[in-house]
Amino acid sequence: RPGRIAVVGSNMVDLVTYITRMPAPGETLEAPDFEIGCGGKGANQAVAAAKLGSAVSMVTKVGSDLFGDNTIRNLDDHGIDTRHVGRVAEKSSGVAPIFVDPTGENSILIVKGANADLSPADVDAAEATLRAADLILMQMEVPLATVTHTVRRAAEWGVRTILNPAPAPAGLNVDDLRDLSFLIPNESELALLSGQPTGTEAEIEAAARGLIARGIGTVIVTLGGRGARLVSRDGVVKIAPVRVAPVDTTGAGDAFIGAFAHFLAATGDVELALNRAARYAAHSVTGRGTQKSYATAAAFDAFCRAFPETA
Ligand code: RIB
Ligand code: NA
Repeated sequence: RPGRIAVVGSNMVDLVTYITRMPAPGETLEAPDFEIGCGGKGANQAVAAAKLGSAVSMVTKVGSDLFGDNTIRNLDDHGIDTRHVGRVAEKSSGVAPIFVDPTGENSILIVKGANADLSPADVDAAEATLRAADLILMQMEVPLATVTHTVRRAAEWGVRTILNPAPAPAGLNVDDLRDLSFLIPNESELALLSGQPTGTEAEIEAAARGLIARGIGTVIVTLGGRGARLVSRDGVVKIAPVRVAPVDTTGAGDAFIGAFAHFLAATGDVELALNRAARYAAHSVTGRGTQKSYATAAAFDAFCRAFPETA
């Protein structure tokens, strides 16, 4: 059977402006292009796993606006279970104004909107679905209390959890994550969570080991162009980067995590899942936008034949 993935997280509508540079305060500047797309870290990760063939459920909240209707339709179109997508009256859906420069680098503002109303009670209401999952995925665009509640409940249920602590979480106490199976931060999120520097390989390793000593199962540090590091009680494994010419890096981290969850649920092999996830994320930066640049299983197979495993 396909792996079962549940996402407790955000959805956003991405308002993506392709710019030559940021305007200065008081300046009006013309930008060459604009696109609207479905995004949000939670929904992005859900869609990546679904496009690869996992059975995905999403626990999230939309507003009472057209963006909310569109988001639910988009999740349905990807075959994602939307029974636990709630609606908040008189609130907007989450939106993300995004600016992408000519090098493919992005700057993102997020307005949480209805995502800010996703509560521990919503998680409890989805218990049957969450318990049946192989993995539960979380990010930080919903309230912190909802994330820590989910981590705790999942441990009671014996369901493994993955937390991508993005955007960088202020006020997150690592002791609330001691039941977490996988933490997937980038360098700056790792520095914030561990309270340690992460400027060198040795510092990254030490900071990750410190989190493991406090109870987190495995830490996977994403390093952009330098690949990723898998840090567990067994040691450190380097995940090689996959080099492509970037068009739009927005949502590449989400592609990585959604694909990791998919391949982990499908194979049970963490290292294999990470190597595939690195290639899946690399593919995503070759296309504009977030979800719409994510490959289906067939397109990903074709891409992998062009970029064979070297690690
Ligand atoms: O990680 C990329 C995502 O961050 C975008 O889709 C945007 O919605 C923000 O949530
Ligand atoms: Na992309």
